Amino acid sequence: MSNPQDLYRQKLTSPAEAMRLVRDGDSIIVPTGVGEAPALLTALSEQSRDFHDVKVSQILAMRKYGYLDPETVANVRHVALFFGGATRAGGQAGWVDFIPNYFSEIPAQIEREQIPAQVVFSMASPMDDEGYFALSLGADYTMAAIAKARAVVLEVNPNVPFAFGDCRVHVSQVTALVESDQPVMEVGLPTIGPVQIAIAQHVADMIDDGSTLQIGYGGIPDAVVMQLTHKHDLGIHTEMIGDGILSLVECGAVTNRRKNYLPGKMIATFALGSAKLYRFMHRNPMLEMHPVNFTNDPTLAGLNDNLVAINATLQIDLLGQCGSESLGYAPFSGTGGQSDFVRAANRSRGGKAFIVLPSTAKNDTISRVVPVLAPGTHVSTSKNDVNYVVTEYGVAQLRGKSAGQRARELIGIAHPAFRAELTAQARQMNVL
Ligand code: COA
Repeated sequence: MSNPQDLYRQKLTSPAEAMRLVRDGDSIIVPTGVGEAPALLTALSEQSRDFHDVKVSQILAMRKYGYLDPETVANVRHVALFFGGATRAGGQAGWVDFIPNYFSEIPAQIEREQIPAQVVFSMASPMDDEGYFALSLGADYTMAAIAKARAVVLEVNPNVPFAFGDCRVHVSQVTALVESDQPVMEVGLPTIGPVQIAIAQHVADMIDDGSTLQIGYGGIPDAVVMQLTHKHDLGIHTEMIGDGILSLVECGAVTNRRKNYLPGKMIATFALGSAKLYRFMHRNPMLEMHPVNFTNDPTLAGLNDNLVAINATLQIDLLGQCGSESLGYAPFSGTGGQSDFVRAANRSRGGKAFIVLPSTAKNDTISRVVPVLAPGTHVSTSKNDVNYVVTEYGVAQLRGKSAGQRARELIGIAHPAFRAELTAQARQMNVL
């Protein structure tokens, strides 16, 4: 067998040349968020008009590449597995496509060819002496796609950390390599206001020392993290690692010591944060990055006792159905790992699943606790799974409660200005 360095040299090419590996009709799998490969996607954009019916499938596209253009969708079309800022408008206008999914199940869908994966474009760390690259920024579904794809193209960047865990790809599995050295994209923490802080305080009060945390995406989950600095021996088994979790490690609140499942280790599937976070991940024995069918599997994650899942929703109806990912029929994001971790926390001994939301939107003119979801709303967490729901007005506990009890609990945490109207509507619906 050739030595890894020889293979590396043989496979090294330019981004423009690498595009020859793409065929009409192919689906290109790209990792979540900042794991996307900018040099390759720029080259694809520059040549997009040469292709026909090529798809790019990804969770949380970060940059608005040239191929994201309604004029060229017959050439190259984006398929969102979760909408982000770069794709939301295209999704709402109908020229970015959408495949609904549970994040945990995307690898199985790729393996079963329900989600096609002929090509992979991924960022990767530099190769180690044994010939391995780490897909530390997004092991997610990309590892499954690598096992399936006809062509695997890695964009090797010295700023990508070499993390431990099941996120390594050997040079012999790779079809072509390109090199880039731009800093990995940094994503700051969202702005947090008094409402987010009030919600976070309610959640933090219910988190015991020794709990294992999954921190979701959005402003409130990050606000919760900031309220946890005085806690002890927290553990991490999550989907996304970001700067919030890093700050809990730095202040000593996270030790992973009391985790009963994978003690001593933090587990995640993708990273989104600052250069400091990416440096922290480099060869850090405390952290493992794994595919999402491992991190988010509700049964496996539920093996963590006292698993606390904190995830945001956009609105909730009086039965507890969470419309977390669309505003009516207009798509906003995706299910991501929300449902996976709600179910995991429900299975965990001592686990708590929190769904968090401000009580209103648009300067208190719209209640986010609603009698029924608007037509077309995508339900992310079902009425059968939802448990703790938290607004700035308190905590509603729903599991095991009847429809009438749920309505009462949820009206109790709605904005006071909407409570009478919600009660009247619940009566009209024969719920109260
Ligand atoms: N009607 C009208 N507008 C509404 C609304 C409603 N019912 N609910 C929310 N909005 C608006 C907000 O006002 C806000 O607008 P702005 O940006 O102009 O201020 C916007 O929608 C986003 O709402 P916000 O509460 O700030 O959302 P967020 O940034 O905290 O993100 C999501 C929440 C989208 C991340 C979350 O709902 C989601 O996608 N959940 C599913 C995925 C998930 O939980 N993954 C977890 C594992 S990582």
